[in-house]
Amino acid sequence: MEKLVAILAVIVVANADVYMHNPRGSNNRLDENGRERNNGNRMFDSQNNNRGGYNVGSLYYTAGSVLPIEWTNQHSCGDPNCHCEIVLQYMCGDWVRDGTTTSTIPENPNQCANYDCNTDIQYGMNENFDYYLNCKIRQRQDNLFTADQNLNGETARYTRQNPQGTRRGYECPEERDHYPYWGPTPWMDIAVFTNEPERCEYYQAESQNVKSRWACDLPFSYLQENRNANRNKPVIPITQEACEAVEIENPAGGNATRGVWREYPSFNISAPVCRENHWSRDNHLGNGVNGQPNTFNWTIPNTIHESCALRLRYNISTGEFNGWDGSTTAELNAEGNNQASALDVHTRYGLTAAEAEDRGYVFENNPQVQMFTDAANGDNFELQLAINTAQLGRTFQDRSHTFAIRPKPANVGANTVYNLNVRGKRGNIVQVFPAVEYDFVPNNLEMLPEDFVHPQWTGSNSNPNNNDGQGRQGTDRSNIALLKEQNYPEGTGAYYQPFGVSGQYGNSYPKNLADTTFLGLDAQTLINLAVLQPGQFRGEMSELDDAGTYFDAKPLKVTETGTYHYMCTRNNNFSNRSQKGRMKVGVEQTQYVSIGYTGGNVSTSHSELKFGQGSLDHLEDIKVVEWNPQQGKWEIERVSGSADDIPGDKIESNFITIYPTGQITTADQTFTLRLFLNGSSSDVIELFRSDPQSYTTWEKVDYAREGNALAVETQMGGTYVATGSSNAGKTAGIVIGCIAAAVLIIGGVVYFRMHPEKLSNLTKSGPV
Ligand SMILES: *[C@@H]1O[C@H](CO)[C@@H](O)[C@H](O)[C@H]1NC(C)=O
Ligand SMILES: *[C@@H]1O[C@H](CO)[C@@H](O)[C@H](O)[C@H]1NC(C)=O
Ligand SMILES: *[C@@H]1O[C@H](CO)[C@@H](O)[C@H](O)[C@H]1NC(C)=O
Ligand SMILES: *[C@@H]1O[C@H](CO)[C@@H](O)[C@H](O)[C@H]1NC(C)=O
Repeated sequence: MEKLVAILAVIVVANADVYMHNPRGSNNRLDENGRERNNGNRMFDSQNNNRGGYNVGSLYYTAGSVLPIEWTNQHSCGDPNCHCEIVLQYMCGDWVRDGTTTSTIPENPNQCANYDCNTDIQYGMNENFDYYLNCKIRQRQDNLFTADQNLNGETARYTRQNPQGTRRGYECPEERDHYPYWGPTPWMDIAVFTNEPERCEYYQAESQNVKSRWACDLPFSYLQENRNANRNKPVIPITQEACEAVEIENPAGGNATRGVWREYPSFNISAPVCRENHWSRDNHLGNGVNGQPNTFNWTIPNTIHESCALRLRYNISTGEFNGWDGSTTAELNAEGNNQASALDVHTRYGLTAAEAEDRGYVFENNPQVQMFTDAANGDNFELQLAINTAQLGRTFQDRSHTFAIRPKPANVGANTVYNLNVRGKRGNIVQVFPAVEYDFVPNNLEMLPEDFVHPQWTGSNSNPNNNDGQGRQGTDRSNIALLKEQNYPEGTGAYYQPFGVSGQYGNSYPKNLADTTFLGLDAQTLINLAVLQPGQFRGEMSELDDAGTYFDAKPLKVTETGTYHYMCTRNNNFSNRSQKGRMKVGVEQTQYVSIGYTGGNVSTSHSELKFGQGSLDHLEDIKVVEWNPQQGKWEIERVSGSADDIPGDKIESNFITIYPTGQITTADQTFTLRLFLNGSSSDVIELFRSDPQSYTTWEKVDYAREGNALAVETQMGGTYVATGSSNAGKTAGIVIGCIAAAVLIIGGVVYFRMHPEKLSNLTKSGPV
């Protein structure tokens, strides 16, 4: 009985969706008025709900800047409920465009301007015509899993999820459903997140970023002539042998042309990031931990181009079907596994094949299962399951609108540019669902002085007219105004757990700017952010109605430390919607990185952490904060009341705090921490660790000296610092130790006397 209950629990009906919220995913929309998109086949096959997607979203990002990619996937990922992969890719090309019509780009060149759909700019296009034509008449991989679907043709256009060969833009259905794809594609890989990180090595080795592809080249004119070839007679073979055997007669006589098995070089860029997914739940749009959508901080590559597109695929399958079968190339090798009847459901449920067949435990559409077999308990009924074999393994997708990648501004130097955008669209949560309401992205940003923030957003003028919101019907507008300081200073109160900080906004009015500073920006810049200049000159701007849809403040250098909370004056409407954000400019360097089974590195200016493969058995969000000694001592004094307990005469390194602060690696595994000294002159250097929750004890940690670095193999996060003392001090023991502590206090006081500005930096909470 228990077993049977378990069976029901495990059968998952895959009906999921994926929506990109930053950059805004189109879900095939293009600035249309309806709540439902006009045309789900415009550019690509999303398999998403018609209500999803954003009308517009074209922005530019500077090379090297940080862009949070934010999305929701409706049916969980990083959770045992399904096998799951998220694949992030992008492409840039002169042909990439959004178009001006919601119609699908034609397939027949005669229907396009100048008989060339590639250049007919009224139609949106990512992949181009040549790419689709090749797919349409190319032999499909016939050992792919088809379940009991009857594919309506033998070319790459027909797949289990697309058995009728429906065309969406110029996307290739077979490529869409599979990753890594064996043929050449224009998509460059950014990241792959998977429930099975053991496969990462394979993904990274097979990615077209690093590995060339081979394909059969036939003359383009020949392909065009065969555009409408019989769907059961593929024109382009997919093996070298078959390719080289193709002979095309030359109509003018002379030698026949032969197929050429050609190598398409790799993109020659670094392999994609690959790791576990962050966990997200089933249903409820698929929020992640703390109710936040999942994100990935993408460092914009140096591929300067005005026309690029971002693509996110969400690939899931049920527990019953493991397409990878424990081996990395399983699906391609899964001969005999590509028929429904051959998929072994029975073993999984402890039945013989014959019994399973009899009782409906077979992989087919809507099977009726007989749960009970013994007459006394009722063997006379069958329950129908909602199973669609086309859907038990499924790929969903969203793509951005076209965006540009522009060169890094010359004045940025080694500092970082952080993109600050607005997500969401006009309406209340019901009207916008499955999109989201307005918010700043990221709504919590941490920077160092001299870093840059790049506020930039766009919106649509054609949201449905009855959608709730302020200002003119149907329009999206946003601005930035500094809020009055928060009611509780940072570090007090228990608010804002998701950000790991306390203190809160708690206000609905902007700050009177006459007596404060905001990031150190000049007054004109603050006015520009509030009334969307340049771009707008006067006009009715109380609710920003006369402004254009697009605003770009350009990357702005932040100079003043502090914690700043800001709002959008138009959209923020207490009880209906909130559009507020926080920016912190601190002198501590902070690094965030998510590291899982495959390992990874993170460094700050004076530290380096290395996690080897297998040192973690789950994805861990690691944060590393580096402080200079003066500020570190201040922080310690703030928490524990005294920094005197740190043994040694002199602090010889910066303080490094690693979160989580307890054990990070799995049982018998360690990670390497290298802490670099600040040019030490002490005879004896010792390394200490403490728990930043209290700083009550400083435990001594053994290290290996590597030049200027102290190297430690450890399992533990927490605060680390190196201190020095003289040999004499060492041998004299504990009494001298007490004196040394006294010297340390005096040393600290002297330092602050000599550098009064340092002290004021540390105690000033800054404008908020
Ligand atoms: C989805 O997963 C299946 C295995 O279940 C795999 O064959 C396919 O290549 C994956 N597709 C994508 C887009 O990741
Ligand atoms: C992305 O970076 C921000 C800081 O800018 C950080 O708060 C956030 O945790 C990072 N997200 C991930 C998934 O690493
Ligand atoms: C706040 O938003 C709601 C819903 O859009 C609207 O009815 C209300 O008038 C707004 N409040 C103000 C003060 O404008
Ligand atoms: C906006 O808030 C007001 C006041 O609480 C409420 O009456 C109204 O229903 C809300 N409107 C929407 C669309 O949520």
